[in-house]
Amino acid sequence: MNPSLSIPASSLPKFTRIAGTGSMLPVRRVSNAELAAEMGARGIETSDDWIVERTGIRARYFVDADTGASDLAVGAARHAMDAAACKPEDIDLIILATSTPDMVFPSTACIVQSKLGIVGCPAFDVQAVCSGFVYALTVADAMIRTGTARRALVIGAEVFSRILDFNDRGTCVLFGDGAGAVVLEASDAPGLLATDLHADGRHVGILCVPGTVSGGQVLGDPLLKMDGQAVFKLAVGVLEAAARATLAKAGRSEADIDWLIPHQANIRIMQSTARRLKLPMDKVVVTVDEHGNTSAASIPLALDVAVRSGRIKRGDTLMLEGVGGGFTWGAVLLDY
Ligand code: UT7
Repeated sequence: MNPSLSIPASSLPKFTRIAGTGSMLPVRRVSNAELAAEMGARGIETSDDWIVERTGIRARYFVDADTGASDLAVGAARHAMDAAACKPEDIDLIILATSTPDMVFPSTACIVQSKLGIVGCPAFDVQAVCSGFVYALTVADAMIRTGTARRALVIGAEVFSRILDFNDRGTCVLFGDGAGAVVLEASDAPGLLATDLHADGRHVGILCVPGTVSGGQVLGDPLLKMDGQAVFKLAVGVLEAAARATLAKAGRSEADIDWLIPHQANIRIMQSTARRLKLPMDKVVVTVDEHGNTSAASIPLALDVAVRSGRIKRGDTLMLEGVGGGFTWGAVLLDY
């Protein structure tokens, strides 16, 4: 019998809350100028001016050949556990969002579990590309509130540099590597207030890595493909809708949002979302300039940067929003 079914409803936690945040970036920072020079040497034209004007990105971080998503995830997880004052043995659930796992299987979550010295708790990956962290947070929230776990590590970790086509200037300047994590725990006080997740598989082809492994070979193209304008147009519409749906479920309004932490893909998408929600840009956490687009890691990375800089304080209301391949999107509203 599922142990959660034997727990009386009265003793289930009302909420889950973020007990601590953490993040990790690779050592190597690559500026636009450096990337443009590398690409220029191969006859591909780009510039710092174009990248900054069209995306807001000034730099990104790339891993070395020996570092995988699990290494970045472990660093971010340790950071988050320190912040939450908890030890690896206190964790009873690990959910890791990634599209760039260490291996085809087992899950990167299991590899992280082993590297952290945790034994026995459930551990699995969530694959929702750039929406992965809001998906993972929503699943962890549901599992804690139904009594399956009490303290979860929820991680977003990516090494997108491994799947970039450095001959495609329309995509390779956009993405970077990194990881962010939170410790989520059962709580009687808020907490996560509402979540809203969606997917529309009709748009599989506008953002994908179409290759696969078969018979010991890579079949198809294993590098990232994106129709940037199609993604851009869809993103701005669904981000506004997900934010409004989440606010409605929680009985809150835009005016209650202290910080918007959107997926960090393009400053113009963030500006458009903020405008539609009537939020000034000084309420939007922006790290795309320094990190580029780190897919499932971008939201927890931005969250950790804003918490550690002292901008986000306990009691603040946060709107987290993800959007990306699938097509997937979603939002999480929470009191920090
Ligand atoms: O993480 C998942 C979510 N992903 C996103 O949200 C990404 C959404 N899309 C975007 O952010 C934007 O569409 C891009 C940043 C990808 C592209 O910006 P854009 O303003 O839509 O540019 P574009 O694709 O319309 O290209 C405009 C021009 C083209 O040249 P022509 O045809 O006008 O001569 C491109 O070839 O810019 C050219 N271009 C570049 N030029 C210099 C494209 N990439 C580059 C580049 N450097 N890196």
